[in-house]
Amino acid sequence: MSDIKMTTGINVKGIGKCLPEMIAANEDFAKIVDTSDEWITQRTGIKTRHISNGEPNYYLGARAAEMAIADADIQPSDIDLIIVATCTPDFYTPSESCLIQREIGASGSMAIDINCACTGFDYGLDMAKRYLQSDDDVHTVLLVAAEELSKFVDYTDRSSCILFGDGAAAFVLEKRENTLYSSYLGADGTGASFLAARALRSENVFRNNKEEFDMNMPQLKEHFFTQEGKEVYKFATKALPNAVLKACEKAGISPDELDAIVPHQANVRIIETAAKNLGVSMDKMVVYIDRYGNTSSASIPIAFCDAVAEGRIKRGDKICLVGFGGGLTYAAVIFEY
Ligand code: ACO
Repeated sequence: MSDIKMTTGINVKGIGKCLPEMIAANEDFAKIVDTSDEWITQRTGIKTRHISNGEPNYYLGARAAEMAIADADIQPSDIDLIIVATCTPDFYTPSESCLIQREIGASGSMAIDINCACTGFDYGLDMAKRYLQSDDDVHTVLLVAAEELSKFVDYTDRSSCILFGDGAAAFVLEKRENTLYSSYLGADGTGASFLAARALRSENVFRNNKEEFDMNMPQLKEHFFTQEGKEVYKFATKALPNAVLKACEKAGISPDELDAIVPHQANVRIIETAAKNLGVSMDKMVVYIDRYGNTSSASIPIAFCDAVAEGRIKRGDKICLVGFGGGLTYAAVIFEY
């Protein structure tokens, strides 16, 4: 018997997504590394992923944002705050949020980037909700997740290159009173080395300490993304169900009462194990990893957009978005669509 706690939450007023046109299928990877469609499909569930053909990350984010703005039937000038989740920005500075703001013509709004790797959309959603709830100047938030992971992928490493795709998605958000909302967010920096991509090293002219600081990430070469696949797998299969359960507990709802769970799309086997641990059927899990691979922070909102377009998620549904990823980070947010 549930006892759902009503509180101040969010209204998802509009949604949108943008994928680059170029598609790489499993067969294309078999031409560049020692792999096969069979191995990739069985071990990950991935069939194709969209990959940038030169489109910058901000371009993907801006197109997704424009679609969400049109869907919400608002003007760019109505936006008070832009939050962009990305771990693959085009520049250290300016921020991705400022670039997207310029592209869509929303000058004057606040603009913030966040980097929580694959968990970024959940963190951004919760941040948006808190701004909407506590800041009288913030009535409309544009939340974008945009990733161009292909620029960090080592296309000679068969164990990681087959996993990732590029893409973006966006929500327009407003405050909603007396509704379902809960969140559970966390991180464990002791697992930082399990998923990593290095930024520029310190090489200023005054430096006399030529020895590398040991960051316990010996496997890193250049800026390429590296991971300890098995460690991440172990972490993800625990973190995902745990975050859902904690968010459910706070909301006074059981996982069974959720209409849909939209997990980060890293590996279909992670999602299947998590569903089993949660005691929910796979019908509840929204999975489009076969189409897009792992698009990091963009994977949850891209899957959400497809589920809405295909009628799997409808207005009034009770939804849980759950992420896990680099950091290590994890988060679940529950709301009514
Ligand atoms: N094609 C063929 N063989 C491969 C490939 C490939 N693409 N990749 C690895 N193999 C081989 C390995 O070399 C190994 O061969 P060996 O036994 O001769 O040494 C064998 O397959 C098994 O390798 P494992 O690493 O044990 O394979 P596993 O079943 O663990 O799958 C994978 C690897 C898919 C990376 C899995 O561990 C995984 O999904 N981990 C989660 C990590 C993840 O999703 N990261 C994404 C980014 S982070 C995030 O989104 C949270």
